[in-house]
Amino acid sequence: MENTDIKTIQWFPGHMAKTRRAIAANIKLVDAVAELIDARTPMSSRNPEIDSLTASKPRIVLLNKCDLADPKATEAWVEYFKKENVTALAVDCKSGKGINKLMPALKSTVLKPLMDKRSKNGMTGAPVRMMILGIPNVGKSSLINKLAGSKRTKVEDRPGVTRVKQWVKLRDNTELLDMPGVLWPKFEDQSAAIRLAFTGAISDDILDIETLAMKLLVYLHENYPNSIRERYKAELSDDDSGFDMLCKVGKKRGMIISGGEINTERAAITVLDEFRSGKLGRITLELPSEGEA
Ligand code: G4P
Repeated sequence: MENTDIKTIQWFPGHMAKTRRAIAANIKLVDAVAELIDARTPMSSRNPEIDSLTASKPRIVLLNKCDLADPKATEAWVEYFKKENVTALAVDCKSGKGINKLMPALKSTVLKPLMDKRSKNGMTGAPVRMMILGIPNVGKSSLINKLAGSKRTKVEDRPGVTRVKQWVKLRDNTELLDMPGVLWPKFEDQSAAIRLAFTGAISDDILDIETLAMKLLVYLHENYPNSIRERYKAELSDDDSGFDMLCKVGKKRGMIISGGEINTERAAITVLDEFRSGKLGRITLELPSEGEA
């Protein structure tokens, strides 16, 4: 399945009901859940029903794509989760960075009571079973591939699509359910939806592409002014509107159409693409102080 399809998934109430049922059935089979979220949008990329969906299963939060996020902000998020009594780890499932800490962190924190019980009952040989949950495009397949150490088929992201369950044997006497739970993001909250569109987690046609890029430029100017300066050699000012900013970027890139007008659509596509691929630097779109607890 191509990623363009993933981005256009529509979550209807029927899909959500099916997803809830599928997750409820699978969660009974595992000892722990790894919840993948995007380190650039840790709140918006979380499923709004995650707590009830995972019930009381031991859970670890993985802040994925930390290679694209602001390292200081990621540290602040790990601290934030710690205060909420949630174990969180920063990982990069593309390169595999941080993934070797996953099982030791699980076993020494949320799974410790189970490990202690098993050791008391002489059952240390029993495998730990785990499943992965997360919104489309957050990196679930990449994580499975890294954990399993081989290239596996792309996870089917369409809600309701079923496949034969398989357990992937990992090191450390762990087994992974080869079928992650695909959750819906916080798209009902307008500002969360915009941040998800910035990262490409949801379709960027929730707004026209130029409006989206203008909003991103305003955010970057306020929070990461050097990123624009360094990438585009453009000097933005506090008085600039989002449109002015987009024009400045377009002009610096020579995106001019006949009549000398700036091709703001091309400029918008460039800004969004370059942000998503990390060319504007490591940027986080929401900080713990702004997030809802
Ligand atoms: P999903 O199963 O949750 O839908 O996500 P998947 O693993 O397919 O990852 C979606 C995209 O995000 C992929 O990029 C993948 O490479 C990228 N990705 C996953 N984890 C990370 C990470 O930690 N850092 C970065 N920078 N990217 C990550 P793609 O462009 O769709 O494919 P490709 O570049 O791998 O060919």
